[in-house]
Amino acid sequence: MISRFEKEILVAHALGLTRAQLIAKRTDELDAALYQPLLDRRAKHEPTAYIVGYQPFWGLDFIVDRSVLIPRPETELLVEKVIESYSHYLPAGRHGALPVTRISMADIGTGSGCIAITLAKNLPNVTVIGVDSSKEALKIAQKNAEYHGVADRCRFITGDMLEEFTTKAPRRQETQKLDIIVSNPPYIPTEVIETLEPEVKDWEPRQALDGGKDGLNYIRKLIVNAPNHLSIYPSGSLFLEIGFHQGPAVIELAEQTGRYSDIKIVKDLNGQDRIFTARVK
Ligand SMILES: C[S@@+](CC[C@H](N)C(=O)[O-])C[C@H]1O[C@@H](n2cnc3c(N)ncnc32)[C@H](O)[C@@H]1O
Repeated sequence: MISRFEKEILVAHALGLTRAQLIAKRTDELDAALYQPLLDRRAKHEPTAYIVGYQPFWGLDFIVDRSVLIPRPETELLVEKVIESYSHYLPAGRHGALPVTRISMADIGTGSGCIAITLAKNLPNVTVIGVDSSKEALKIAQKNAEYHGVADRCRFITGDMLEEFTTKAPRRQETQKLDIIVSNPPYIPTEVIETLEPEVKDWEPRQALDGGKDGLNYIRKLIVNAPNHLSIYPSGSLFLEIGFHQGPAVIELAEQTGRYSDIKIVKDLNGQDRIFTARVK
């Protein structure tokens, strides 16, 4: 069942109208031959964002195709928490003034680039390295960075999580310490994926969803390895989106490393665990 809102988006897109222009028209003025194929695709559970080729996130439109996860509203909370922490990295007395330092971030599992690009657009002296294992996803991220005018402060590289930042990496690409590592990694337990709605399990990239048996494969790697790549002064931070049931396990993982302070779980609007934040000691 397609919601009226989605139907309006699809019909307006097919006819080259805004939603407001569409609503102002009479039904008999609309050429069904133009929009019916889009409604048929949606009826087969193809997500509206893939059909129209974009998805709004943080008030910006992001280009999407089947190689990337469709940006989710809950990920805006992750962006919000990073933005809130920004002043920690600015030299005292220069908040809001001309940037005097570069704040370096890595967005691990960048996908469409929605996190990296939104942060680059909102935080003027930030440079972001977006890492993804999917070359196809990175092409979309690059297009988005260009579209939003921040390609000069976003760089996208293929890699396996934080491997490109380690001294052991065969083609080591990155050497500097990072002020912030942010990630919305795949975190859905493998067997849960089959229970998800068809729009997700049949259309979105499996490698963007599957977090292994307990969903924590990538989160575990990030929590264990991030302190090796975060700056000590000012203390670097790790920000992760997590599954609603993963808060206690993620806190335990972070505490076991003994390398973090200020470990916090932030709940989303539904009162569910959603974001993990911590500073390196
Ligand atoms: C949940 S999606 C997040 C995409 C985007 N950051 C967002 O929030 O919409 C996870 C991303 O991690 C990428 N990924 C999966 N395994 C990876 C790995 N080993 N190293 C780097 N990225 C990986 C996927 O290709 C996917 O783009």
